[in-house]
Amino acid sequence: MAWNVHRPPRAEGKTVLVTGGNAGIGYFVAEQLAGAGAEVVLGSRDAAKAALAKQAILARVPAARVRHLRLDLGDLSSVRAAVHELNHLDAVVCNAGVHLDRPPRRETAAGHELMFATNHLGHFALVGWLAPLLADGRVVTTGSFTAKSVTLDPADLQSRRDYEPKRAYSRSKLAQMLFGFELDRRLRAAGAATLSVVTHPGGALDGLTPSRPPLRRRSAGERLRTLPAGLLLQSKQAAAWPAVRAVLDPDVRGGELWGPRVFGVRGRPAREPVRGPLADPGLAAAVWAASAELTGVDPAWSLR
Ligand SMILES: NC(=O)c1ccc[n+]([C@@H]2O[C@H](COP(=O)([O-])OP(=O)(O)OC[C@H]3O[C@@H](n4cnc5c(N)ncnc54)[C@H](OP(=O)(O)O)[C@@H]3O)[C@@H](O)[C@H]2O)c1
Repeated sequence: MAWNVHRPPRAEGKTVLVTGGNAGIGYFVAEQLAGAGAEVVLGSRDAAKAALAKQAILARVPAARVRHLRLDLGDLSSVRAAVHELNHLDAVVCNAGVHLDRPPRRETAAGHELMFATNHLGHFALVGWLAPLLADGRVVTTGSFTAKSVTLDPADLQSRRDYEPKRAYSRSKLAQMLFGFELDRRLRAAGAATLSVVTHPGGALDGLTPSRPPLRRRSAGERLRTLPAGLLLQSKQAAAWPAVRAVLDPDVRGGELWGPRVFGVRGRPAREPVRGPLADPGLAAAVWAASAELTGVDPAWSLR
């Protein structure tokens, strides 16, 4: 079907969990889904930020149904507790992410490298525990174009040997994307109705992003500074489009990759080929096995 990013299909009756829905791209995914009529659950570790995001959504979508779910992806006990608060979901958008830009290498309380733990392991466990609630639903994994240019050593997933923040971030995103594609293979093998779709938002900057009071106001200085970048990159509002499409488009299929149309960095959502390290089932299976061991969760679906 022709897809209009400003008029997605109505989604009344659907409930969607958006991790990191309190800020950035996740906020706009939540706002756009709420605008389409879906009930939106903002998975956020910070209740005050989630409250501001809820106010911002209600300011634009007065009839929105939005609630906060406490969720810290860097703490598996928090992830477990969050899942206990839910009883039905039509989709989860695994959007939250942390991107450190300088050393030192940091670890969670469980001793896992912070970006790998938050971006990948937290979502891996979340999806595993959510499986019974997502029997006909969709799992939308947020990757990054930077994942296409790194390699992942299953023996050193947490970059103990050669930590460099940007590379470790990209590896965490590659692990997430491999998970999304491997999940699709396993869902098909199990005959499950759940879809696993991988998206990436292109390149998005806060400075190119419209204000959403009381959550966030863009200053004139910020707008001016990022003006040149606007030629190549986009707003977080536009960066939300692939995930919204992955949740709502009835023509989207499991195992697909969706990102921005223009060089994969900006523009309307388009389907992309899955190739390179993303299309390596052996690597994906190794990452899955290691993730199951590290989290104690092994996502599994029963037959439809
Ligand atoms: N922006 C880009 O150009 C770009 C490019 C490629 C991929 N991505 C991916 O797109 C996603 C969103 O990026 P963004 O630019 O919107 O980032 P952002 O503005 O920094 O927002 C990140 C979100 O993740 C949440 N988060 C971080 N750690 C968390 C944790 N331990 N538990 C729960 N939530 C946590 C943050 O919550 P707090 O407010 O509590 O920190 C925030 O809501 C990320 O997965 C990122 O890797 C972004």
